[in-house]
Formats: sequence, C-alpha cells, structure tokens
Amino acid sequence: MKLKGNKILITGATSGIGEALLNTFIRLDNQVIALGRNKEKLNQLALKNNRIIPFPCDISQSEELDRLILFIEQEHPDTNILINNAGIQHNYYFEEEDAHLGKIEQEININFLAPIKLISLFLPTLQLNPNAAIVNVSSGLGLVPKKQAPVYCGTKAGLHIFTKALRYQLNNVKVFEIIPPLVDTQMTAGRGKGKISPEKLVEEFITSFKKDHYEINIGKVKLLKIINRISPALAEYIMKNGGE
Ligand SMILES: NC(=O)c1ccc[n+]([C@@H]2O[C@H](COP(=O)([O-])OP(=O)(O)OC[C@H]3O[C@@H](n4cnc5c(N)ncnc54)[C@H](OP(=O)(O)O)[C@@H]3O)[C@@H](O)[C@H]2O)c1
Repeated sequence: MKLKGNKILITGATSGIGEALLNTFIRLDNQVIALGRNKEKLNQLALKNNRIIPFPCDISQSEELDRLILFIEQEHPDTNILINNAGIQHNYYFEEEDAHLGKIEQEININFLAPIKLISLFLPTLQLNPNAAIVNVSSGLGLVPKKQAPVYCGTKAGLHIFTKALRYQLNNVKVFEIIPPLVDTQMTAGRGKGKISPEKLVEEFITSFKKDHYEINIGKVKLLKIINRISPALAEYIMKNGGE
C-alpha cells in the first residue's frame, strides 16, 4: 500500500487505537475523515490539523450511515481507504443478569453489523479509486475467547471470518485485518496486564500495511496463533480469563 496521499475514513477516531491511527496517517501526509459520536473531541482534533475532516456519526444507526454515505459521495468521492475500527465491549454473565438484551444488540450492531453495512455502502466509491483498501479491526479474542465477554468475542470471530471471505471476493480493493492483543485504551481501563500502547500497535500495523500483509497479527497475537495451532486447549486455558 502507498502510505501517503490517501483519503482515509476511520471509525472510532476519537480515542485509543483509532486516534493513534489518525495521528499516524496525518503525519504521513494523508487526509482523514474522522468518525465518532463525541462531537467535542472531533472538533478538538480538527482544530489540530486541517487535513482532519470531522464527521459526528453513530454507526449503530442505519440513518446515520445513510447520511455518511451521502456526505462521502457528494463531498469526498476520492476516499480510498475505509478503516472499520470503532468497537465496544461489555462484560457480563448470562446467568447473573436478566436485562442484557440492550447490551447484546449494541455490541452486535457496532462491532459486526455496522462494519459490514459500511463496506457494502462504501464499495462503489472505493472501487472508483486507486490504492483502495478496507481495514477491519478484530481482536485476539475473536480467535480464542474469554469468558466475561461472549458476545464481544462472537462479534470479533464473525468479523475475522467475514474479512477473510471478503478478501476472496474483491479484486481491486485490498482487504486487511488488524488482530490486536491487549491494548492500553479506554476499553481496557482498569483491567488486564501487559498491554501495549496504541502507538506501538499502529507502528506494527504500518510496517505490514506497507508490505501488503493482509492479516496483521499484532504483538502477542503472533504467539497466540502458534500456541493455538500446537495446543488449542492451552490457548483456551490462557485466554479464558483474559483481560481485554
Ligand atoms: N483495547 C484493546 O485491548 C483491544 C484489543 C483488541 C481489539 N480492540 C478493538 O480495537 C478497536 C478500538 O478499540 P479501542 O481499544 O481503541 O477502544 P476505545 O478507546 O474505547 O475507542 C472506541 C472508539 O469507538 C468509537 N465508537 C464506539 N461506539 C460508536 C458508535 N456507536 N458510533 C461511532 N463510533 C463509536 C468511540 O468513539 P465515540 O465515543 O466518540 O463514539 C471511540 O472512538 C475496537 O474495535 C476494539 O474492539 C481493542
């Protein structure tokens, strides 16, 4: 992938991994359309650099996605990279809580349905542009789950398999997946040990992105995959009480 001169849409650019991706792509001389629900944070980001285009948007709402696509088609038809990064995680036990239907729906909408809808709506635009790519952010927990977050793990496993199959389908749009380990962000505040910084993740991602490595295992995910191949039971034992 060419690393400069792109127009990149990043979901969840207001915090954590998304904000680190935004900062790096701006430094590398790209334009970024930054998405999130936090308008104040988006405006702060846009004040820092005029190559950041803020777009407040709740990706779990279909009408918000329609509004976004109209904006892209009318004002930024040269957008050539879509990064599906926004995500949430709830930790809960099915036996202990009665009313978790709202959480279930929210996790599935934001982590799984929204990226797929965005890809479907965005594809005609991407196909018109050179150096086109889709980047989906999944998780090591989509390979081997932890017990506190079954729906989160399910959405990430779904996104992982979906991304692979999409890669088989698309001819002139490259399909990447970032598979992070535990990263030090708002999502993991107060839990987990041995976290890497979002900046370290982005550094590793950029090296692989440049070389067109499509499935990008970050940090300890490389080791997790090896352990999972040799002994799935050991991988499950390690991850079962995982911190992310
Ligand atoms: N942190 C980890 O250890 C880790 C590990 C593996 C995978 N991941 C994945 O990495 C991605 C980024 O996570 P993070 O750790 O950077 O989390 P984070 O710091 O909590 O950031 C999450 C981002 O998603 C956005 N977002 C959430 N719901 C949204 C919605 N309905 N519409 C639009 N934007 C929404 C938030 O923006 P607003 O609040 O402004 O809406 C925020 O910018 C997620 O997909 C996560 O599953 C994280």
